[in-house]
Amino acid sequence: MAESNHATQVAARTLFTDLTGREPDGLWSAPGRVNLIGEHTDYNDGFVLPFAIPHRTVAAVGRREDGKGRVRVASTFAAEPVEVALDDLDEIFPTATGREPAVPEWAAYPLGVAWALRQTGLVGSGVDIAIASDVPVGAGLSSSAAIEGAAASALNDLWNADLDRTALARIGRRAENEAVGAPTGIMDQMASMLGEPDAAIFLDCRSLEAQLVPVGIAEAGLAILVIDTRVKHAHSTGGYGERRASCELGASIMGVAALRDVSVDDLPRAQELMDDITFRRVRHIVTENQRVLDTVEVLRTEGARAIGDLLVASHVSMRDDFEISVPELDTAVEAALAAGALGARMTGGGFGGAAIALVEQDAVASVSDAVNAAFAASGFSEPHIFTVTPSAGAHRDA
Ligand code: GLA
Repeated sequence: MAESNHATQVAARTLFTDLTGREPDGLWSAPGRVNLIGEHTDYNDGFVLPFAIPHRTVAAVGRREDGKGRVRVASTFAAEPVEVALDDLDEIFPTATGREPAVPEWAAYPLGVAWALRQTGLVGSGVDIAIASDVPVGAGLSSSAAIEGAAASALNDLWNADLDRTALARIGRRAENEAVGAPTGIMDQMASMLGEPDAAIFLDCRSLEAQLVPVGIAEAGLAILVIDTRVKHAHSTGGYGERRASCELGASIMGVAALRDVSVDDLPRAQELMDDITFRRVRHIVTENQRVLDTVEVLRTEGARAIGDLLVASHVSMRDDFEISVPELDTAVEAALAAGALGARMTGGGFGGAAIALVEQDAVASVSDAVNAAFAASGFSEPHIFTVTPSAGAHRDA
């Protein structure tokens, strides 16, 4: 079982005891993720291939003994805790009216999880939740799904909800969509709940059937570099929702429930039926779904060394057809490839965040240096570069 970073566990526990004057009932943690391939396919009922990363969010959680049914959340990234009555959560997350939730965004993740659990009919009882995390925020590495996963795992145990991992991922997604108001798919929450060491999660986002696919990156003498451009993104605003709307338009023009139901062979007909922008959005999703299937096949038959071209094709499709890359991401990908990476692509929702590069283990330093030099030459801020290995999903730490 992958251990959370000890410092993160200590930070969560200390925050809890400072807040409450007592020890938590336990520590629960959940990881961030990178997506190997399959971007924006999740909300099109398509395929994705993410894996959980070693960076985790830890929630120290304890039942309250005052019997008042209140929930208090604190985090190391906010000065003040937030405390509300469980019975007020419906008022705080007025999804029907579209108002902004009446709590800071970071607090909407754990409180949204409590709200979503109660929407299933669970009553719950008062709890204190203290959160610490080493998942970089705003880097496209699913720091929010990590908070949701840690909070959902804790409340599942303390409220005796007895939900399985897929159900907990749905709870996290519901919190994200309806409480926070980000119209995302379910990939991040599934990756955070289902991650396993050395494996990627091949997920059918229509059936939510998940298969673990051994990636064999280390065995092949390779490493995955994350290049966090430090260009911050947010999916509750702007481009993400627009892309989603284009996909829904494309599906309705094609007369299908979701773009999952359009194949590469259908693309010439799609091009005749729709405007150029909608067509290019559709072409990204349709070809990206196929690339996920091809990547799984290549991993199984030839191994990690052979997936580089698929990663590059995915990036080009996001840059030119889906138009969600930014100059920093393109620079990261181009510089990594020029320095010998086998493949590279932006990962996550886009408009900022991180790229990944598949590199020889003994080229980690030289590729990193080349990317740093390219950023400096372009006048971009220094990126944050580190390696990741596929890691365990959510669990109770203590
Ligand atoms: C974000 C969303 C996911 C997914 C990706 C793009 O991470 O949270 O649901 O849509 O973007 O693949």
